[in-house]
Amino acid sequence: MARTIAVANQKGGVGKTTTVVNLGASLAVAEQKTLILDCDPQANTTSALGFPKDPARRTLYQTLILGEPIERVIVRTQVEGLDIIPSDKNLVGATVELVSMENREYRLKGALEPLKNRYAFVLIDCPPSLDLLTVNSLAASDSVLVPIQCEYLALEGVSELLDTLMRLRRSVNPALAIEGILLTMYDDRTTLSKQVAADLRSFFGSQVFEAVIPRNVRLAEAPSHGKPVLYYDIHSKGAEAYVLLAKEVIANAQKRLGAGAQRVDSGAGGPASASAAAAGSSSGANAGGGGSGGGPSGI
Ligand SMILES: Nc1ncnc2c1ncn2[C@@H]1O[C@H](COP(=O)(O)OP(=O)(O)OP(=O)(O)O)[C@@H](O)[C@H]1O
Ligand SMILES: [Mg+2]
Repeated sequence: MARTIAVANQKGGVGKTTTVVNLGASLAVAEQKTLILDCDPQANTTSALGFPKDPARRTLYQTLILGEPIERVIVRTQVEGLDIIPSDKNLVGATVELVSMENREYRLKGALEPLKNRYAFVLIDCPPSLDLLTVNSLAASDSVLVPIQCEYLALEGVSELLDTLMRLRRSVNPALAIEGILLTMYDDRTTLSKQVAADLRSFFGSQVFEAVIPRNVRLAEAPSHGKPVLYYDIHSKGAEAYVLLAKEVIANAQKRLGAGAQRVDSGAGGPASASAAAAGSSSGANAGGGGSGGGPSGI
């Protein structure tokens, strides 16, 4: 059964696409068959994986709006074990067209159903908004991974974001868990980055992944070559960081399997605060980690 993870943050430019592309490649290289779903009309994930604009290519639009079987829109990438459902600018129209459709929040969930047994992981790249595409992504997912850029006011932003996610959780997907909060664009030469990381860890504790994504020029360059960073510069700090993240995500999935049916999702009743909700719903952000956090554990 695939673990479906939406990578979401309504803030733009925080590293969602970079995370989907490079976590996806790292999972596939670790022999976890992975499907990336580009749910953003900007189609940055599609181009970062080496697919330039092509009006003839079938995309998520065909499945979501026109009801074509999802198998027909899947494309193999250059990475063995990594497939993609591409996006293109037509998806902008989808947000409008979805409004009048029946079951509009659950179209993607329904479309993904036949693929559940084919992949170990499905990663969804969400647009930087809370439109119907993001709602569809969250409704179709088991968990949400939230990249947070290590910058001023990050803590404030993440609390609001988790509040919003938890509201959505109540309305469209009560089973949605927090896969983890991921610190991105971390610069260990600045006290600000260190301070932000320390604050997030002390507040969100084990919700924060142990793996931290550094600010790394190779990560920024790789998309223009149409490659994940592992295929562009395997020795870069960026590549190393995403491999570590993949290990944590795999460890989390294995831990969950081990826990099996025993696990009771205690957060489903709608906890009062964002952090409590996040903690209550978490399935453990750092199964492999040393547990550095002093914040809410809730696991
Ligand atoms: N760790 C990093 N180090 C250096 N550059 C990065 C890093 N992560 C992302 N970038 C760069 O920052 C920019 C924004 O990243 P990305 O596209 O992944 O963010 P996003 O959240 O998907 O943006 P959007 O909200 O527009 O979809 C890109 O140019 C990307 O190459
Ligand atoms: Mg993006």
